[in-house]
Amino acid sequence: MVKAKKFVTVKHFQGEPKPSDLKLVEEELKPITDGEFLVEAEYLSVDPYMRPYAVQYPLGITMIGSQVAKIIESKNPDYPVGKRIVGYLGWRTHTVINPNMPPEIELPSQKPYLISDIGDLPPSLYLGVLGMPGNTAYFGFEKLCSPKSGETLVVSGAAGAVGSHVGQIAKNVFGLTVIGIAGSNEKCKWLVDELGFDSAINYKTQNISSALKKAAPKGVDIYFDNVGGEISSTVLYQMNSFGRISVCGSISSYNEDHSSLPKCTQIQAAMVFKQLKMEGFVVTRWNDQWQEGIQKNLQWIREGKVRYRETVTKGFENMFEAFSEMLKGKNVGKAIVQV
Ligand SMILES: NC(=O)c1ccc[n+]([C@@H]2O[C@H](COP(=O)([O-])OP(=O)(O)OC[C@H]3O[C@@H](n4cnc5c(N)ncnc54)[C@H](OP(=O)(O)O)[C@@H]3O)[C@@H](O)[C@H]2O)c1
Repeated sequence: MVKAKKFVTVKHFQGEPKPSDLKLVEEELKPITDGEFLVEAEYLSVDPYMRPYAVQYPLGITMIGSQVAKIIESKNPDYPVGKRIVGYLGWRTHTVINPNMPPEIELPSQKPYLISDIGDLPPSLYLGVLGMPGNTAYFGFEKLCSPKSGETLVVSGAAGAVGSHVGQIAKNVFGLTVIGIAGSNEKCKWLVDELGFDSAINYKTQNISSALKKAAPKGVDIYFDNVGGEISSTVLYQMNSFGRISVCGSISSYNEDHSSLPKCTQIQAAMVFKQLKMEGFVVTRWNDQWQEGIQKNLQWIREGKVRYRETVTKGFENMFEAFSEMLKGKNVGKAIVQV
């Protein structure tokens, strides 16, 4: 009999998530039957979407999330023992999967899928640059921003999983000038010195408006927005005519009460007089091209065009800590938990 550990929700997040909002429990799993297989989690993802999405489900569910897991028992020939999958199985160590049955929580995500061995690269990348964040950067930038060589891009949340990847694709694949906005000097230094961004602005210590005027004296053509709020309003007023804005995330508001969101500068004047185009997206829009995105990102890693970084927290019991620290900006690159 296999015992799984899992985190269940006991209180909906209000403001900053608290450890007491979740409870770690054990669950005895039933033996697998024909068509089923059993997986053991190796790496789990902690992502910003978990904060706004988790509150939409009833209390008592397994906390939502994806993981890379190894198949340790199988009665399904399509999922042999020893192979790995990526699945939205929640914060749990062991899971019995029947690919034909709906999961406990239906997210607008892919069904569990087998992943290939990537040799010297760690399988955890399937939660980052070769997974949802990598595809968010790839599709959200290329499909919505119409990038042209020589243009100038600003990306916020620049030192995170999505932002660091967007900046590198823009710079090294499309030949743009790239300016990152991030929350510490260490992050800004990493963006410029290691990833090759042209410049970076620390939004916690610098005046974004004047720093951006210096970094982009000819204005901004594309803004990839991971954070929303006043940072984004400031960037919009420095955009060139016919600029494009890809609205990927709004992490600056995720801990806020949605009935009284923080006010920020109106953007309509910038939108009208500069004839800007702004589009929001959710990456599952490109579910039917998911593997194409993974292959493209893998190719760029192999060619040395993009680099990745992970902030790894060890121990399944530390899931909450990893989640909370990511929301507070303690991660550089992709935040993951290694079981
Ligand atoms: N649309 C989609 O389909 C999709 C898919 C994936 C992700 N996203 C969104 O993309 C954004 C980035 O996601 P990610 O997975 O790459 O996370 P991430 O950037 O690796 O981690 C979150 C980062 O947000 C920053 N942050 C936290 N509070 C902030 C605030 N008040 N203002 C500005 N920055 C703040 C922190 O960095 P600092 O130190 O710089 O503050 C933190 O490291 C999120 O908004 C997420 O919801 C959207």
